[in-house]
Amino acid sequence: MTPSKIVLAYSGGLDTSVAIPWLQEHRNADVVAVTVDVGQPVDLEAVRRKAISSGAVNAFVLDARQEFAEEFIGPALRANALYEGVYPLSTALARPLIARHLVEVAQREHAQYVAHGCTGKGNDQVRFDLSTTSLAPELEVVAPAREWGMSREEEIAFAEAHGIPVPATRQSPYSTDENLWGRSVECGILEDPAVEPPEEAFGWTTAPAQAPNDPGYANIRFDHGVPVALNGRPSPFHSLIVDLNQLAGAHGVGRIDHLESRVVGIKSREVYECPAATVLIAAHQALEALVLPRDLLDFKRAVEQRYAQLVYDGLWFTPLKGALDAFVSATQDRVSGEVAVKLFKGSARVTGRRSPHALYQSGLATYSSGDRYRQQMAEGFIYVWGLPARTWAAVGATSRPPLAPTAKSHP
Ligand code: ARG
Repeated sequence: MTPSKIVLAYSGGLDTSVAIPWLQEHRNADVVAVTVDVGQPVDLEAVRRKAISSGAVNAFVLDARQEFAEEFIGPALRANALYEGVYPLSTALARPLIARHLVEVAQREHAQYVAHGCTGKGNDQVRFDLSTTSLAPELEVVAPAREWGMSREEEIAFAEAHGIPVPATRQSPYSTDENLWGRSVECGILEDPAVEPPEEAFGWTTAPAQAPNDPGYANIRFDHGVPVALNGRPSPFHSLIVDLNQLAGAHGVGRIDHLESRVVGIKSREVYECPAATVLIAAHQALEALVLPRDLLDFKRAVEQRYAQLVYDGLWFTPLKGALDAFVSATQDRVSGEVAVKLFKGSARVTGRRSPHALYQSGLATYSSGDRYRQQMAEGFIYVWGLPARTWAAVGATSRPPLAPTAKSHP
């Protein structure tokens, strides 16, 4: 039987390396490895070589950093997307992008399957599977780690038996995932949600207590909801994120300790480092508060919550997500201006904002001379606005005590 062809999302880690010979043996397949550069600080050429030495018939590294920033992070930022109010969705946002590249390669290479290294317990399997099926319903997804039932020790033995290099250094107890929008850490001692994350779990941020005693500032310029300059220096969005991760991370900004509700029903404890995301979302919210009216802000908040949940749940390529994107886009016409964020020992606080579209009008807001607000008009407004409350209260006052039970009309 001629071997089938499988396009595997390859990170270079133990799981996806073991997946190569496993797929050859259990699926009689040629494996094409695809590694997508979403800004993870890893030597990707070494990863590509490792895929080949692990048995892949071909291996590609695709630079998707700009695409990730513009088409995935950007829309999420405009939606101020924070899952359960705290997690900027760094890992979640990269999955549909990676799936889209897997599908493209699979179609080009005439492969029948795509594969990933996710286990059956997490969210990422949901995101890969749903994104793939939405883009290419004819492709089948294989998830070896969901099937093979090997312990870590068995995996290492399998790797050694198949000539896959296993790093001699003692493995870190943590499982991490990194891209432009953040770093996630789980496992090890973090599995006890009562224990404070030890300093060694962090990789991108300075401990707040060790951060500089002088505050730093991130001045962000937005153009229609897109960050276009940091501290006066214009730069493409993806490089601005890299610079801001560095700047805010050095001030200890962006550590998140999340007791998280997974799609599959499991509660898990996850630690994140998302310095740029933390600063940019705070700045973007502050600019929106300046230029958007109250009812729109209010309605948008509900959309944002739903949006974050859709992204978390792996529903990126769905009609509802597309429709919410259209709504969010329509709100960003006037979201241009500058926001200053003060970075100090772990905190990021907005200290100033300006925009040519500001709804803040000093002639209306001021208590000093130059007041254009007609205070006398407030009385009539309050009379009408308060009418339902006044009527309610008045009726309540006259209807006490409660009505006596209706007398029965028996003779
Ligand atoms: N729990 C996060 C999410 O679902 C991140 C999981 C990333 N994986 C990891 N090994 N830390 O988006």
